[in-house]
Amino acid sequence: MRYDFDREISRQGTGSVKWEYMREAGSTQWRHTDACFGEDRFLPMWIADMDFASPQPVVNALVARAQHGISAYTQETDSYYAALADWLQRRQGWQIAPEWVCTTPGVIPALDMLVQTFVAPGEKVLVQPPVYYPFFSAIQSNGGEVLNNPLILAGNRYEMDFADLAQKARDPQLRMTILCNPHNPVGRVWTKDELLRFGEICLARDILIVSDEIHGDLIYPSHTFTPFASISEAFAQKAIICTAPSKTFNLAGLQASNIIIPNEELRCRFQSTLHRNGVHGLNLFAIVATEAAYRDGEEWLEQVMDYIGGNLRYLQEYVAAHIPQIKVVEPEGTYLVWLDCRALGLDAPALQRLLLQEARIHMNDGCVFGIGGEGFMRMNIACPRAILAEALSRIRRAVALL
Ligand SMILES: Cc1ncc(COP(=O)(O)O)c(C=O)c1O
Repeated sequence: MRYDFDREISRQGTGSVKWEYMREAGSTQWRHTDACFGEDRFLPMWIADMDFASPQPVVNALVARAQHGISAYTQETDSYYAALADWLQRRQGWQIAPEWVCTTPGVIPALDMLVQTFVAPGEKVLVQPPVYYPFFSAIQSNGGEVLNNPLILAGNRYEMDFADLAQKARDPQLRMTILCNPHNPVGRVWTKDELLRFGEICLARDILIVSDEIHGDLIYPSHTFTPFASISEAFAQKAIICTAPSKTFNLAGLQASNIIIPNEELRCRFQSTLHRNGVHGLNLFAIVATEAAYRDGEEWLEQVMDYIGGNLRYLQEYVAAHIPQIKVVEPEGTYLVWLDCRALGLDAPALQRLLLQEARIHMNDGCVFGIGGEGFMRMNIACPRAILAEALSRIRRAVALL
């Protein structure tokens, strides 16, 4: 079927975090609001979900299961694992065994529990900022210490700093790294060569690699996603791969993720933490939606990536033509765009004020992503093009006031 991504679907009254919650500039307090609806509304372009309905086969499967009427204790079946394994084989070229999969109610809870399992208090976890900020809290709130290996911005493209990585890998307190591939927020899809270098440095020091691949299905043409554990058996034995249907098919509210651990000993240790935390599989609707999405969601995914690619081109052309002070860091994957606003000459609070108060657009302030984030904003472009166009013309007007 042909999907219509231009249609705006109102999320008013749905409890949407993106549309119904905001934080005042400079405040840490969230409040429920209707400021994103009606005349002169704010445009929410922050948290990573899409403003598109999920694939129709997923909606149909959920409706059918709800109509069955009994929502009692349920478990993932063989066909659930088969749908996931087929997807990873077909789309990403990675062959997994069903028994490698541990299901968790989201990748963030999995990261918390991975740190609880493998990192003793005071030991370190390496991350590559600017990076998805819940990595920091997953480490710190579970007693670990963050070790930064900042990315390097070379021209308009980010690269890993391998010399710094090799040096930090010698730290005897370093237990784990959290790799983000594709990288949120800078949009890199790490090449096989980069992953090889990264993995070899970590393996030489016996450091566990957690690869967060939640955006791994959202890849733009001419880039290839390489699952970390598909590179070699040695890598697979030292890696824990976090995947989920939530970003791919816009199912974040169902809280489903598949944490894939080929090494049996590591897997048993993680499973024991899951059980200690009372986590025993996914909820009924998460199971139904995940299986339907991996089995029948491909047509939708092709179309949505085509549409988002169109949004990206629109954004790049508009910014180049009308707001040349802002540089778009070209993403290779994800629907998140990292905007380099440093040439506006504003400090972080002033930049946030300009976008929130003058342009009335809610984006993520680059500072929260750690080292290297100041002066940047993260924009979510998984929205109808008319919303993106409105946002860009507002930014243009706001910047003209400077
Ligand atoms: C890199 C990354 N990991 C994890 C998550 C969140 O995962 P979940 O909603 O499954 O906890 C996100 C959401 O934006 C993300 O970008």
